[in-house]
Amino acid sequence: MLNENHTDIDVLIIGSGLAGMSLALRLAENQHVALLTKGELLDAASAWAQGGIAAVLDDDDSAENHVRDTHLAGAGLCHDEAVRFVVENGKHAVQWLVAQGVPFTMDENNHAELHLTREGGHSHRRIVHAADATGRAVQKTLVQQLKSHPNVMVIEHRIAVDLITSTRLGITGPPRCLGAYVLDKASGKVMTIGARHTVLATGGAGKVYVYTTNPDVATGDGVAMAWRAGCSVANMEFIQFHPTCLYHPQAKSYLITEAVRGEGGLLKIPGTGERFMTAHDARGELAPRDVVARAIDYEMKKRGLDFVHLDISHQTPAFLKAHFPNIYAKCMSLGIDITTQPIPVVPAAHYTCGGVVTDLRGRTDIDRLYAIGEVSCTGLHGANRLASNSLLECLVFSEAVQADIAAQPRVDIPPLPTWDESRVTNADEEVIISHNWDELRRFMWDYVGIVRTDKRLERAMHRINLLKSEIHDYYANFRVTNDLLELRNLVQTAELIVRSAMTRKESRGLHYSLDYPDTLPTATDTVLKP
Ligand code: FAD
Ligand code: SIN
Repeated sequence: MLNENHTDIDVLIIGSGLAGMSLALRLAENQHVALLTKGELLDAASAWAQGGIAAVLDDDDSAENHVRDTHLAGAGLCHDEAVRFVVENGKHAVQWLVAQGVPFTMDENNHAELHLTREGGHSHRRIVHAADATGRAVQKTLVQQLKSHPNVMVIEHRIAVDLITSTRLGITGPPRCLGAYVLDKASGKVMTIGARHTVLATGGAGKVYVYTTNPDVATGDGVAMAWRAGCSVANMEFIQFHPTCLYHPQAKSYLITEAVRGEGGLLKIPGTGERFMTAHDARGELAPRDVVARAIDYEMKKRGLDFVHLDISHQTPAFLKAHFPNIYAKCMSLGIDITTQPIPVVPAAHYTCGGVVTDLRGRTDIDRLYAIGEVSCTGLHGANRLASNSLLECLVFSEAVQADIAAQPRVDIPPLPTWDESRVTNADEEVIISHNWDELRRFMWDYVGIVRTDKRLERAMHRINLLKSEIHDYYANFRVTNDLLELRNLVQTAELIVRSAMTRKESRGLHYSLDYPDTLPTATDTVLKP
């Protein structure tokens, strides 16, 4: 149990998604690990993943095919060495999960083989899955092992506030990470955790937008903490909007997996039933996500629609109930029978392609600070992530980080100062936080969404600056709370998104600007340094 300051931990992992959990399990063989998470272990995007994990497992497929598909989706901005590194380790990563006991769906005709489904942008069937709830199956399997592991201290309901670095303590020399300040949400106390290595595995930032497929914990904390600590952050303008989020007043953030289109689902105009994707792209419904999301956005705006339809009712009820049991049940609970009716869908913010810059060992600009999973920018995704490549990236990089940490000499942690709250009081008006939270997410959707312009970005930046100064005053004067910390991180992340978008004077992948509709001949990363 963690109820006071801890200063002798080998590795502090912040985040219990697939990146954090798989790393904790790998490291626990030889190290004392603290696995910190904001909610419960399963409160993470990883547990919500539906479609699956991309890996080359079919004899007709090849690593070259997967590499090519990843580059094509990434619109020329993927780093080839990162793509090859992840793709070539794909099979091994899936085998590791199988060895942990993950109950993947098996092929109906050959029960010894994993069933492979297909998703947009993939030229072959290569998505390993557990029906339509892959993430839950994976995460539940890992949780069982972690909770009983003697070398893992699971710390739930605590939120990391900021990283503790040598620079912040006035220690000279190259910056080094020494741990983190952590808020215990129940007691309101901020603890000091010292660690020889610290790993950011905090996931994405979908909550920057009012419509998102992401869980509530996805507030960009890792990117914001790394930025404040002095790390470079890259490609934050590339926010992936998933084309098909369920549109229903009672369905908050419910994704309809891309595998529905992979298995023949068609996008149609409500009322007329007209298909529209083929008019936008020869690959139709299986075009990469940025293309499909923009096409839906275009049709909705042109025709004044609140949603479009995704229709898979031509498949047999038995097929749909076997392949999409959770989607079938969810839709049925809202009165939509997907075996006979189309599903109302809209695009929603889904994945943060940019993040904290790392090398292929997961190292950041700060010594002994790593970033893995969605919080990182490894070069794999470029300007648009290929579907189902992110869980794979979590697995491949957790193995790389484990190897890098294992190869390093043990160091001592200097004495760390405790959190100083001698000059703050309890907040007087919490309404400021909820109001600013709503305002930020709404204007980010309106001004920094699927289609951007210079003017919209300027408007967004103007508002961000106002919010930043209000939050700064609030942070300086009042005790920190979970909501305040998340809002502060959301605003910081929003600023990085807008700054990056303003820097890119072209349209590429997920960044589409009406002022710069063309793609420049040379692809360059947007790297921001604090
Ligand atoms: P997450 O799984 O998001 O975990 C982040 C963790 O960090 C959480 O535990 C959170 O509580 C914790 N955390 C955050 N901030 C703090 C803090 N300050 N202090 C303490 N803890 C903190 N990808 C695929 O490859 N295939 C799919 O089929 C797929 N389907 C998806 C479906 C949905 C609905 C969504 C939202 C995403 C999907 N993705 C999919 C994307 C994929 O799930 C994520 O990119 C991936 O799970 C990210 O894993 P992660 O470990 O980096 O972060
Ligand atoms: C989905 O199932 O459509 C999500 C897949 C992904 O985000 O990789």
